[in-house]
Formats: sequence, structure tokens, C-alpha cells
Amino acid sequence: MNRRTLLVTSALPYANGPIHLGHMVEYIQTDIWVRFQKLRGHDCRYVCADDTHGTPIMLRAQQEGIAPEALIARIGEEHRADFAGFHIGFDHYHSTHSEENREAAEMIYTRLRDGGYISTRTITQAYDPVKEMFLPDRFIKGSCPKCGADDQYGDNCEKCGATYAPTELKNPRSVVSGATPVERESVHYFFRLPAFEQALRDWMAEGGVQAEMRHKLDEWFEGGLQEWDISRDAPYWGFEIPDAPGKYFYVWLDAPIGYIGSFKALARREHLDFDRYWAPGSDVELVHFIGKDIAYFHTLFWPAMLIGAGLRAPTAVHCHGFLTINGEKMSKSRGTFIRARTLLEHVNPEALRYYFAAKLGPGVDDIDLSLDDFRLRVNSDLVGKVVNIASRCAGFIVKRFDGRLADSLDEPSLYADAVAAGLRIAEHYEAREYNQAMREIMAIADRANQYIDEKKPWALAKETGREAEVQSICTMGLNLFRVLMSYLKPVLPDMAGRAETFLGAGPLAWNSPELPLLGCRINAFEPLMTRVEEAQLAAMMEAAAEDARAHAVLTGTQAPEKTPENTAMTSPIVTETATAIPAESSTPGPLQADPLRPEISIEDFAKLDLRIARIVEAQHVEGADKLLQLTLDIGGEKRNVFAGIKSAYAPEDLVGRLTVMVANLAPRKMKFGLSEGMVLAAGPGGKDLFILNPDTGAAPGMRVK
Ligand code: MSP
Ligand code: ZN
Repeated sequence: MNRRTLLVTSALPYANGPIHLGHMVEYIQTDIWVRFQKLRGHDCRYVCADDTHGTPIMLRAQQEGIAPEALIARIGEEHRADFAGFHIGFDHYHSTHSEENREAAEMIYTRLRDGGYISTRTITQAYDPVKEMFLPDRFIKGSCPKCGADDQYGDNCEKCGATYAPTELKNPRSVVSGATPVERESVHYFFRLPAFEQALRDWMAEGGVQAEMRHKLDEWFEGGLQEWDISRDAPYWGFEIPDAPGKYFYVWLDAPIGYIGSFKALARREHLDFDRYWAPGSDVELVHFIGKDIAYFHTLFWPAMLIGAGLRAPTAVHCHGFLTINGEKMSKSRGTFIRARTLLEHVNPEALRYYFAAKLGPGVDDIDLSLDDFRLRVNSDLVGKVVNIASRCAGFIVKRFDGRLADSLDEPSLYADAVAAGLRIAEHYEAREYNQAMREIMAIADRANQYIDEKKPWALAKETGREAEVQSICTMGLNLFRVLMSYLKPVLPDMAGRAETFLGAGPLAWNSPELPLLGCRINAFEPLMTRVEEAQLAAMMEAAAEDARAHAVLTGTQAPEKTPENTAMTSPIVTETATAIPAESSTPGPLQADPLRPEISIEDFAKLDLRIARIVEAQHVEGADKLLQLTLDIGGEKRNVFAGIKSAYAPEDLVGRLTVMVANLAPRKMKFGLSEGMVLAAGPGGKDLFILNPDTGAAPGMRVK
């Protein structure tokens, strides 16, 4: 097989909000594809970055009273932690606000300008005379010119669906200051997209876009390509245009260039040759994964910019659909806006990776996360089928044969079938038909379980003289399990890692199954995945609803989202989204002292060292009916704590969650061991006991004040 070289990207998430489960469709889809390519032995690299420029980020930083650099640094950290939690294996994760990206943006702009692809003209735009800034359409609200509905955005009416220019709004006002916008002229810079129509048609004919997108592109060509406004006036948060003081690159210019910026940082570290990757005629496959809302940018502007700047065009742009939750669009007000972090605190992220894989096809259809279906699917496929094979066979091998596998397979033809299926499964992964790949994999799991059911090793184990058969059957089962884990490794990297430890024969590669494991020793079996319980999902949804309530209180309004509707793929112009302006925070009145509790001084209070802690392990305590043993991480330091919360929590409900602990409580020797602190909980007790659950922005080790 010839070794391919690939550079793969996912779209760069905006640095003005948290990663949510909708985003995760894309990062999981891409990560699976990248892991698959690597597992096959290809030279594949995956880069991404935070998309950090633009008006919403500038305004949000102002609201928080911090520099935009500080805001994007903080959000960048959160994004990285969320991605790591879902095992997204970027080779490099960068920021568009970086020197590498500035250089790349300046280079591309200069080349386009010198090639005659930049024009300038004066345009009239809404201007906020109080805030002294030009207003993007989404930052103007007023009454709809058609139906009169109040509180509508400057580009379309959510009541009657009309689209219009912001100048047509009745009683317009600036979302930023409330002032009535005035019209003002300014010189803008334009990218001459129409000059690239033929080049784009030729590029499209090379087959790098899906059929659905080709049709979209045809429509866009029919409608006639327009020049693209790539400049914004100060004050703007972005890169200043080299030969135009006071003018900045529009965020969407330097955003896709961020792929190059991130690559440059990676190339420096790994000594990769820039031209090999980016010069025309490159042998490297450049593959972009995106959502359908940003197709216009990636199938028109981006390839045209690359071609115009004398660089190579993308090999493929793969578009996916949008995530819905229980059949509906994610929404803060419905409490279905689930942050990535919220899921991580309640559910095994690999369960979601598997579920998305089982649903994702190569097209642009939306995919639905139905919580019941999710739970049943994961429990039935992964726990009930895959893990079950290993747990049924491992015990016999470990206990009766000292961990040693038999020297031959019981049914070589069944094994050979499973190995042969790898060809089809690989084709499905390659073509992003993950749903088909999962179906084939589960068919192997079904056959393996059927085989074990028929052979009944547990019955044979009770008869004398049939030891060799038991060993051979279980060896067969474990080898089928190993085949399954090789094929699932792109989807379940963490579980595959634990299976590798258990099998004790090194890392699994795609073709590992060709040689079965025989005559060697395996290690003791530990549960590889536990069931997703209804209670976990209920707790996750409660946390999501709580999140939305907290958000509503904080901002006093609903933050407009970029939704598939308001950035439909038919619309060539995707406007920036506005952030909600927070209301004045109201401070609650002084609390009355509780007469039953002694009053303490501020000095007494200051002695308490309260810390955010992550529960990294939770276990039942042998012989204790109230206690759970918790291992808490307070930022690099681990604490052992016995907490009397068993009446309210099962250990598996707690693992991964954040809570609050008293970190400077004198250690106490208990019957079961040393307790090094205390977790805080509220409620009368019994089932109604709730450990404190800090907001997802908190990190282990932070001081609680
Ligand atoms: N910053 C731009 C992309 C710049 S790429 C040069 C952006 N950011 S985003 O944070 O809004 O979205 C990042 C990616 O996540 C996009 O590909 C987008 O389509 C995808 N998704 C965001 N919400 C989504 C769903 N609800 N469902 C599926 N994908 C979604 O766009
Ligand atoms: Zn209207």
C-alpha cells in the first residue's frame, strides 16, 4: 500500500463561547477519520485553532473589562481542555491571533493585491454615533418593515421571515449602545471572487466536494458570484491590513488562513516543508471537515484565495449536517444547549463518540441525539456486545490457565471472516460511512457472541477432561474481541488503549488481526466500559438547564446563536453573531445570621481553604454503609477523602465531576484509612443530598472565595 501524506482540518471554533455537542459532531467526525488514517500507517496530521477575531469577541472582552488577548487565552484553554476530554487528537491546536497567522494573512493578501484581485470602493453602512463604530447587521435591531414585529435583527425578521437591508428597519437602534444608527461612508477592500469562476468550476470538477455541495455550488454560480468585502474599519479586533492603516481584515479572511497559521507552527516543531504542503501540484492531500453553514466560505472564497495567491487548492471539503437534540434544534431556552464540558462531567465521552459514529454518514443530513436511543444503543452495542465477549472469556483464561491463551484457534474460518471484513470496514471509514462501518463491526460482535453462546464454555468448564476446549473457545472469543477493538480503535481510542493493556501484546494497528494472539499471556480483565444510566443523562440535562438559567440571569437576555436557519447554506453572507450585553448584576441583600450556628469572624472564614476538586475516582468502602471513598484532584495534587454521600450517589455518578472541598482540614485517621479533607454537600440527607457542582469554567485547584 502506498503511504499517503495528509493534512486534515476541522473548522476553527469561535473563541467567544464554549464548545457544545453540536461542535463535537465535527471534531469527532474528523478525529475518527484522522485516527483511521494513522492506524493504516499513513502520514496524517490534524491541525485546528481557535478563531479569535471579530466584533463579538471585541465587545465581549469590553463587557468583561479585560483585554481581548486575555479573553481568547482563557477561552482557548477551555476549548483545549474540552477537546482533550473527548480524545480529539490534534497534532497542533493554534490561534488565529498568532504571528504565524499574521504572516500568512499578509502574504496571501499581498499576493492577491499584486495579482489584481483586490479592489476598493466606498460603501455606506450603519454607524453607531455613541460607540463610534460601524455596526454589523446583527448589531442593529428594530421593527420589521414588512410585519412591524419589534426587536428584529437588521437582516431578517424571525416573525414573518422577511429579509431586508438594515436601512429598511423601522426605529432602528444599535444593540451595543441603544443609539439610533446613522449612515456613514467608508472605503472598503474587496476580493474579486468573480475572477475565479472558471478556476472554481475546474476545481469542483476534480470531485473534492459532495454531490449535495456541487448542486449548491451550481446554484451559486447561477446566481452570479459577488465581490467579497474583506475589510472592516477601526475599532476592530483583528489584523490591520498592511497598506491600509485603520482598516482591518474581516475575521472571515484570516480564519481559514488559520489552517495555514496552525500548520506553520506545527511545521516548525516537526520540520515539515511548507512548499511540499502548500505549493501548486502538492502531493499532500489537504482535507477540510466543516459544517454546512460555512460551505460558502470553504468552497468559494477559500479555494479562490488559495489559487489567487499561487497556492494549492484543497483536495476535499467534507460537509456535515447539524446536530439536533431529541429531534429539535439545540436551544438555551429549551435547556438542550449542552456544553461539551457538561457531558464530560456526567457521561463517558467515548459513548458519544460511538453514538455519533453509528449515526454519521457521508452526507449533509442533520443528525439527532435522542437521549434514550443514545443510552440504549451504547449499552446494547458496546457493553452488551463488545465488552461482553471479553468479560465472558477472560475469567476462564486468567483463572484456569494462568492467563495463557491456547496455541490454536477453535474456528479458524470464523476468525478469517472477521479479518476479511476489515477490507469493507476500511472502505467505509475512508468514505466517511461510519454508520456502515459500525454496522459491519457489530455484525462481527453478534457472530462472536453467537459462537460463545453455542459453545457454552461455562458448561464445559464444569465437566472434567474438557479443559483444552474451554481454553481454545475462550482464546477464539478473545481474538474476535481483539479484531473488534482494532476496528473500533479510531472511534474508541481510550477503550482500545485499555484493551491493549489487557491483551498485553502492544498497540493495535489496523492489520494486527492478521496474526491472532496465540500461546501468549493476557492480563487480568478490568471493565472496559460501563453502562450509560438514565440517571446520568437526567443529571446532564439538569446541568444543561441550570447552565441556561444561569446564563439568562447573567445576561438578562438570550444570546443569539448562529443557527442553521440564520446562516442557511443558501445565504452567501454569514453575519457575525452578537453577544448579549449583560444586565447590571444585582447583589442579594445581607443574609440573616442563623441563631443555631455560632457566628464566625471574617478571619475565621479566611482560614478555610476551599478548593475546586475533580473527583477522579469513587469507590464503595468495604464494610461502610454511608461512606464512599473519593480520590480528588485539586490541580496536580491528589487527596483521599471518605464522604458520607453513599445514600445519594453511586460511585460511577461521581467520577469526572467537579465539586468543592475543604482542603486544609486536619487529616483524620478512620477505620478505613486516612481522610484528607471534606467535600461540601447540601440538603437534608438520605437521597436528598447534593454535592456542590461548580460551573464548568472552574478548574481543579482553583481557590473558592
Ligand atoms: N469560526 C467559524 C469557522 C471558521 S473555519 C475557518 C465557525 N465557528 S463555530 O464555532 O460557529 O463552528 C465551528 C464548526 O462547528 C463549524 O463547522 C460549524 O458548522 C460546526 N457546528 C456548530 N454548531 C453545530 C451544530 N449544532 N451541529 C453540527 N455542527 C455544528 O463557524
Ligand atoms: Zn416581519
